[in-house]
Amino acid sequence: MGLVDGRVALVTGAASGIGRAAALAFAREGAQVLAGDVDAEGLAETAALARESGSEVASAPVDVADERAVQGFVETVVRRFGRLDCAFNNAGVSDQTGAFESFAAAAWNRMIAVNLSGVYWCMKHEIRQMKTQARVAGMRGAICNTSSGAGVIAAPGLPHYTAAKHGVLGLTKVAAQELYGEGIRVNAICPGMTDSKLTRAFASEDNALTRAVLKNLPGGKMGRPEDVAEAAVWLCSERARWISGEAMLVDGGQVSR
Ligand SMILES: NC(=O)c1ccc[n+]([C@@H]2O[C@H](COP(=O)([O-])OP(=O)(O)OC[C@H]3O[C@@H](n4cnc5c(N)ncnc54)[C@H](O)[C@@H]3O)[C@@H](O)[C@H]2O)c1
Repeated sequence: MGLVDGRVALVTGAASGIGRAAALAFAREGAQVLAGDVDAEGLAETAALARESGSEVASAPVDVADERAVQGFVETVVRRFGRLDCAFNNAGVSDQTGAFESFAAAAWNRMIAVNLSGVYWCMKHEIRQMKTQARVAGMRGAICNTSSGAGVIAAPGLPHYTAAKHGVLGLTKVAAQELYGEGIRVNAICPGMTDSKLTRAFASEDNALTRAVLKNLPGGKMGRPEDVAEAAVWLCSERARWISGEAMLVDGGQVSR
């Protein structure tokens, strides 16, 4: 029996990296999955990888910075599979590092729109749906948001990213307080440096900051998206039924150094 057998899950940012690994893991663990992203080509690759490994992942485009698109995405999962049990709000962007005072309004606003407001729009429409549902295996729904090590400690050079990821933990805690009694759990994962498109862009920046970050990785290496995805699926499963409001570091000990 899979961890999320018979559940319906959605995953954002599922065209790549952690979101792709999570869509595949939810499907392997028995869920019906709707994968969303702005990258249609990457979504098709995720669906093809699922087929190759003998499971199925459906997909639909979504820009999480656009509330109406998010509402439509949640409606699509319900139209297709009848309900929504697990939501992994993971889509996110990073940016070139810069001095604290160097960020222009466009870069600041885009970061907040995708990495913070995007998570709120997803939670808003998921929670509305989950509140209307009957309980399955004790809960009406479980949400996991992707924050970051930069949601817990500072990421120098990335003030807007750090602010957005701290904000994701704030949203997670408020929703957890308001919703456990309604049968909805809300948690976050805080990945450390994980090998994906996002970190390959960061690692290619040749400056003292990136060199220092990469040199200090435990065991000298980044995590794998698959290892981060495991935590998200588990937090959304009934095994984690007494866990809500948690910000789980999934980083091989990076932040504890
Ligand atoms: N890789 C790391 O080291 C690391 C560390 C901490 C946190 N994170 C977070 O993990 C999440 C996933 O990142 P990843 O490392 O897998 O990177 P990634 O670049 O491989 O994947 C991110 C995905 O999000 C999608 N996306 C971007 N903007 C979007 C939008 N507006 N709407 C919908 N989809 C959008 C991208 O197209 C991409 O497929 C992000 O929230 C990131 O901030 C990553």
